[in-house]
Amino acid sequence: MFPFRILNQEQIQDLLDMRTTIGLVEKAYKLKAEEDASLFPMVFHEFEPGKADMDIKSGELTGANIFGLKLVSWFGDNPSKSLPAVVGTVLVLDSRTGAPLGIMSGEHITMMRTGAAGSIGAKYLARKDSENLLLVGSGHLGAFQIIATLMNMENIKKVTVYNALSFDQANEFCKSIKDKLLGLLAPYKSQDKEFYDQMLKRIDIVFEPTQDIQQATEQADIIITATPS
Ligand SMILES: NC(=O)c1ccc[n+]([C@@H]2O[C@H](COP(=O)([O-])OP(=O)(O)OC[C@H]3O[C@@H](n4cnc5c(N)ncnc54)[C@H](O)[C@@H]3O)[C@@H](O)[C@H]2O)c1
Repeated sequence: MFPFRILNQEQIQDLLDMRTTIGLVEKAYKLKAEEDASLFPMVFHEFEPGKADMDIKSGELTGANIFGLKLVSWFGDNPSKSLPAVVGTVLVLDSRTGAPLGIMSGEHITMMRTGAAGSIGAKYLARKDSENLLLVGSGHLGAFQIIATLMNMENIKKVTVYNALSFDQANEFCKSIKDKLLGLLAPYKSQDKEFYDQMLKRIDIVFEPTQDIQQATEQADIIITATPS
């Protein structure tokens, strides 16, 4: 009865870039602070503690005439089945009629939003001259946190990566991180070469795994955690 758009993961990946996402997430935080947006109570359910859970986050963006929800499930065993741990769906509706406007795949949006949120935290809470970023957890979210933080913090020289469960995974993460970051920068290669070149310099830094979380914490200017613990 109501026409609405459906955007799959590939379309979202083509449409959404990190710099835009940071701007939009910051705008949403401001709208919330100015009471131009409201959140509805969150629904959280653990199917199996530490292994599988889901949450529904929802709210209204007054002024934009929309309300919506995002249902995100996190199934920790999924990677062993070659599936992503986080699976999400976003539904956006018209707040004047209640009619649906669109349904979107939520995985990429979730990773982008969460990376953007971490970097906004760093932008406002960390020292401008911060040089050492510590990433705790070396899973899927890590690359999004790093690229967003490097966009907001221009003096980062080293990213230390800690994984409590597997040093090897942190090591592998560090070896492959630049390719992932380049992937997240790809949209700018044709759209904004100056920004792309600037970001190429920012990712040309040291990525180092560590087993010593105490020392890494003491040396860190910014700590971002991306773990289920
Ligand atoms: N708040 C949000 O909006 C939001 C959005 C996305 C993801 N998340 C959460 O972020 C977490 C990470 O997401 P992901 O996609 O990277 O998951 P992931 O499973 O890909 O990676 C998690 C990593 O953390 C490591 N780890 C587990 N316990 C640890 C500990 N105590 N110390 C250090 N490392 C530890 C794991 O070995 C793994 O490498 C998930 O729990 C997810 O629910 C939150």
